[in-house]
Amino acid sequence: MESAQVIILGFSCAAPGPTRALVDSKRFHDQNRAVISPALERSLPLLRCPVTREPLTLLESEELAVMNRALAAGQWRHRDGSNVAEPLSLALGTADRRLVYRIEDEIIWLLADMAIVPAAEAAGSDLPPEKRVVRAFYDDFGWAKSEDGVFNDTKAFTEVGSQARGYRRKCNTRIGRWLSGGAVLLDVASGAIPHPEYLDYSNGYETRICMDFSVRALREARQKLGDKGLYVIGDITRLPLANGAVDAVISLHTIYHVPQPEQTAAVDELVRVTRPGGRVVIAYVWGYSWAMNTVFRVRGWLGWLRRMGRPSPVAAEAAAARDTGMPDLYFHPQNYDWFAREVAPRHDARLRVWSAVSTAFQNRFFVPGFAGRLILRLVLAFESLLPWLAGRVGQYPLFVINVKAGRAFCDEKDKSR
Ligand SMILES: C[S@@+](CC[C@H](N)C(=O)[O-])C[C@H]1O[C@@H](n2cnc3c(N)ncnc32)[C@H](O)[C@@H]1O
Repeated sequence: MESAQVIILGFSCAAPGPTRALVDSKRFHDQNRAVISPALERSLPLLRCPVTREPLTLLESEELAVMNRALAAGQWRHRDGSNVAEPLSLALGTADRRLVYRIEDEIIWLLADMAIVPAAEAAGSDLPPEKRVVRAFYDDFGWAKSEDGVFNDTKAFTEVGSQARGYRRKCNTRIGRWLSGGAVLLDVASGAIPHPEYLDYSNGYETRICMDFSVRALREARQKLGDKGLYVIGDITRLPLANGAVDAVISLHTIYHVPQPEQTAAVDELVRVTRPGGRVVIAYVWGYSWAMNTVFRVRGWLGWLRRMGRPSPVAAEAAAARDTGMPDLYFHPQNYDWFAREVAPRHDARLRVWSAVSTAFQNRFFVPGFAGRLILRLVLAFESLLPWLAGRVGQYPLFVINVKAGRAFCDEKDKSR
């Protein structure tokens, strides 16, 4: 039986620099044309090890065989210390092969915790408790479907009545106007791509990289996007991509689920991986919306508004979904001050709007009848005439960042781009 030492030496002997990467890739493609997706073939040079930021190459068949024998002998583990239960059928590795990443069902596991390393180098988990809570929520509950085929996440947080659905579609379509096409669109964290309008964002791009740390999300996304997508398990605060790798990034309704002290770093990461001249579009929610706060306060004073403001059946169902055994979910939306203090000074960021009004507002005021239609039109007019103000005082802003040339990154190892 081979020892871990022998295996490490076996990999590292044959591990010089970039020439090996080219040779690897050509030989591998000749051997494995049938098993690697076109999106992986196109995107492999963009991928990086989330621990060291080094480029990654595919393990050859002989390397996989050696590795699988070592896994069976318990000589390698995940970096978080957990056991590697299944053998590898396809994998990426750093040049010295000390960090190896599984590819399974076209999903690439590029999370630092899930790196496969010699057992003695397993360092324990890097994920703080808040991130574990969010990951478990989406894997176990959020992207599972309820009996009527709707995602639990949609049911609990975003489902709206029939009148508001058209409004939601318009808000989603608005995001696509900021995307001008190119080779690669990165969608962090894509989730299950729960709305049909989301599919259109990648129309002008060759590849859409869907990144999320929920595997259930990516399985759903893969069913919808197929070959156009590359599906990567990754963390938004440690993106496994080269500097300037992609043409545009979208990150919708996610950064407020990142631990509060890391939210600025998450925005910086999105900018780091975007090429100069590219664009980053982020949908966020303010912890405090001046407009929503005022409306709901005034509603309490006016009888007419109070009558109108009864929750719709959809809102009642959503509340019931939240009340019945929903697992915990970390959520920390910040206020405009954070954007003004930390995001705007660091980046060329404009404030725009995804939706000025909250889901509660939509369910209470976008109701059938003349008054409901009038309110809906007024909201849409406000958003299109004064998008900055609607984003500032409303509920859900968009941050639109134009990435400039010459940004310095403290990532000394990643000199390849
Ligand atoms: C509210 S859902 C949004 C999904 C989709 N973008 C949308 O707009 O419907 C949040 C998603 O972010 C993912 N997520 C949360 N924190 C993350 C992190 N640190 N790294 C990667 N994905 C994360 C969750 O797994 C989940 O799929």
